[in-house]
Amino acid sequence: MRICLVMVVAAGLSGCSSGGAAASNQQAAAPSGPVDGARLFQRRCAVCHGPTGEGQEMAFGARSANLTEAALQARLTEAALLQVMRNGVGRMPAVTGLRDDEARAIAAHVRSIRRP
Ligand code: HEC
Repeated sequence: MRICLVMVVAAGLSGCSSGGAAASNQQAAAPSGPVDGARLFQRRCAVCHGPTGEGQEMAFGARSANLTEAALQARLTEAALLQVMRNGVGRMPAVTGLRDDEARAIAAHVRSIRRP
């Protein structure tokens, strides 16, 4: 009878410790935060368009567009802006590996830096 009790306690303890390990594994695989258009812009666009989006002279002889310009913003529809990212335009290469929600978040950031 006493042996039985010891076995039950031991089983309970080992169950407890494996449960704890599973919980800490879940924490390690925490999901990443929401899509941040401003941060993505710095990572994927600022190298050519500058951190403020105003554009700059490029080493390959082109000038990247000033994305804050009201006239450019007025000319580009939402669909056109997404297409520029997806396929490139003129001397701008396609920006590869962007998910749809990431591209839309970048587009929203571009709209937010428009100057009147
Ligand atoms: C490798 C450099 C480079 C990167 C990276 C880049 N661009 Fe460009 N972008 C350019 C250049 C150069 C032009 C001018 C293209 C031309 O007129 O020949 C341009 C033009 C544009 C235009 C104007 C298009 C038009 O119709 O006038 C938009 C909008 C634009 N880029 C948005 C973006 C966004 C948003 C990103 C990031 C997702 C990005 N670009 C990343 C180089 C770049």
